[in-house]
Amino acid sequence: MKRLDVREGWDANMRILVTGGAGFIGSNYIRYVLREHPEDVVLNLDALTYAGNLENLQDLEHSTHYRFIKGDIANPEDVAEVFAHGVDGVVNFAAESHVDRSILNPEAFVRSNVLGTQVLLEAARQAKVEKFVQVSTDEVYGTLGEQGYFTETTPLAANSPYSASKAGADLLVRAYGQTYGLPLNITRCSNNYGPYQFPEKLIPLMIIQALADKPLPVYGDGLNVRDWLHVEDHCLGVDMVLRRGRPGEVYNIGGHHEHTNLEIVNQILAELGKPRTLVQFVQDRLGHDRRYAMNADKITRELGWQPQIGFHVGIRQTIRWYLEHREWWQRVRSGEYQAYFAQQYGNRTGSRMIGGETK
Ligand code: NAD
Ligand code: TYD
Repeated sequence: MKRLDVREGWDANMRILVTGGAGFIGSNYIRYVLREHPEDVVLNLDALTYAGNLENLQDLEHSTHYRFIKGDIANPEDVAEVFAHGVDGVVNFAAESHVDRSILNPEAFVRSNVLGTQVLLEAARQAKVEKFVQVSTDEVYGTLGEQGYFTETTPLAANSPYSASKAGADLLVRAYGQTYGLPLNITRCSNNYGPYQFPEKLIPLMIIQALADKPLPVYGDGLNVRDWLHVEDHCLGVDMVLRRGRPGEVYNIGGHHEHTNLEIVNQILAELGKPRTLVQFVQDRLGHDRRYAMNADKITRELGWQPQIGFHVGIRQTIRWYLEHREWWQRVRSGEYQAYFAQQYGNRTGSRMIGGETK
């Protein structure tokens, strides 16, 4: 097996363990790696929770450079089994990822996001991997007022059970670097959008509601701001960090595409030719962070990362993808999704039940 030279980047034939690779960003990342680095081998460890879907990677099923292993990152036996295949680098995407679900059930977040990360770190340490990349989020920094940006030195001030669990994981990752010398990086990215995003998150949820002429549930006054980045640009950043990031460093990744939720929703309605009357203001999310915005100068300066996909192009492509992949989202919205939807939106809309069924 060839070794990593952090000055030069990875050599060919590296075995990369991607966790959570059946989810939204992980599946886009695996496709990205096998397209851009066809000499590499990807092992995908995923527990296939409600958010994990092997359909996202159907086109890679027969690739000799790709292997799926079903397993839980919080289970040391599952993790040991994967490491037995030989692993040079780890990119940890596996997590419970939805803030609203963390408010309903924080425990699952601590288990997968905190304990799971520690189990992986331990296995990575034993295996002496060349690099461990923890895929984190801007949400660990808490919330901003109208001005300013998060930098890598902004203190962690997580406000939701989701972001607290991600911040806990970040600290464990840091500790494995400081204590055991594990070569690692943490990436903290802003809100992603793009193909294969599970339709519980703002953009796909609103596209699908609008297509069915159903109400679009906007929390509070709709003026919370998020910094949107296309998933391909996130994948590019994570990959640069894996191969060339300076060990021990944190890198912010963000798009400088700040929009209020209402702006996003109105743009989706306009693109689909649907009326703004579909917007329904509903009870606000508990502890709802007001604004996120990233300063990503460090990754640009050190690694040359630049977002490639402008928001207006990216959102159109994404809407088209959901239009062309109705079967994909109709399938993922069956079963457990209906129960979640009723629990999440049933009580907060007052007069009208929004309804998860979409024909
Ligand atoms: P997702 O919910 O779409 O996918 C998560 C994947 O992890 C699923 O395939 C799921 O089956 C798997 N998983 C969950 N718990 C697991 C466990 N215990 N063991 C193995 N697999 C498990 O999430 P996503 O949006 O693709 O996010 C991926 C990562 O990126 C997460 O760590 C998230 O915190 C981070 N992130 C997401 C965003 C965003 O906007 N979506 C932004 C910044 C960072
Ligand atoms: P989300 O996609 O859940 O990402 P995050 O909370 O991690 O930023 O939500 C993005 C924004 O959209 C956030 O401010 C909450 C808001 N939102 C709504 O107004 N209605 C919804 O139904 C959802 C899911 C989110």
